[in-house]
Amino acid sequence: MSEKIAVITGTSSGIGLLAAVELAKGGYKVVASMRDLGRRDRLDQAASAAGISGQLDVRRLNVAEFDTIPAFMDAVVRDYGRIDVLVNNAGFAVAGFAEDMKLDEIRLQFETNFFGHVAMTQAVLPTLRRQRSGHIIMVSSISGLHGAVATSSYAASKHALEGWSESLRLEVNALGIKVVLVEPGAFQTDIWTRNAHLGQKTVDGTSPNRERGARMRDQVQKLRKRDPIAVARVIAKIAREPNPKLRYVVGPDAHMQLWMKRLLPWKWEEKLVARALKID
Ligand SMILES: NC(=O)c1ccc[n+]([C@@H]2O[C@H](COP(=O)([O-])OP(=O)(O)OC[C@H]3O[C@@H](n4cnc5c(N)ncnc54)[C@H](OP(=O)(O)O)[C@@H]3O)[C@@H](O)[C@H]2O)c1
Repeated sequence: MSEKIAVITGTSSGIGLLAAVELAKGGYKVVASMRDLGRRDRLDQAASAAGISGQLDVRRLNVAEFDTIPAFMDAVVRDYGRIDVLVNNAGFAVAGFAEDMKLDEIRLQFETNFFGHVAMTQAVLPTLRRQRSGHIIMVSSISGLHGAVATSSYAASKHALEGWSESLRLEVNALGIKVVLVEPGAFQTDIWTRNAHLGQKTVDGTSPNRERGARMRDQVQKLRKRDPIAVARVIAKIAREPNPKLRYVVGPDAHMQLWMKRLLPWKWEEKLVARALKID
């Protein structure tokens, strides 16, 4: 059988970088895309340390430049003849109380976290349909199943992804195409540092939630963030699984949030969250 091909977005850091290496270690040829090839050093170093540099094909792709996506996917199919796995991973988080977020800031969040994944998926589907096989793995978030204070735009973009992916799974399952959602809790990646965006009203200090926001930020900084290799390994495991589940929750904090939402009366949860984040 010919070599299996995986395509992944956002591989310059974090979960995407590690998942590219794990998939390559598992024997895949990995088309590792990133929006700025000037940031490929970390991936190159990790690939070289793992001895899989020859398994990576690093290409430029910004998932929010929707017009470029069909040509990107056509080129992959032309070069390799097939695609077995698409990992929609690229994403970022914008923070700020819902009251303060400008519509343009919320739109930008959706462009990458939702429409970017949709555009990538629509571009890969004709190939998977022709093959009657393939996995589409969406890196969502526990915030796609559970709202969170000061990240409403992020949670909304991930909730949209959850609904879209669930519907898509129902539509394409009969064609042999598996759509899977990965729901990580908090993992130590650049999403908390270099890639953390703040809404304008938080930055310029005009937010009426200024003080509550500052108290909360201290608590969030103390949150335990785990090694993202756990998420990358789950992604590689899903790729190997012929009949994957719809959802894979990763991390004890994510399991805890889901447990709280399912079992605790919402009013209790409101009190617990307000106290824990010091916004009461
Ligand atoms: N870490 C967590 O705690 C956590 C929890 C739940 C879910 N997630 C999800 O995991 C995914 C990966 O995030 P991460 O934690 O690994 O964070 P990260 O280290 O910041 O990585 C995000 C990656 O996405 C890329 N990216 C952002 N916008 C892009 C765009 N428009 N086009 C192409 N690439 C783009 C970034 O590229 P640049 O280097 O160019 O910025 C980077 O490579 C995201 O979807 C995130 O929502 C993370």
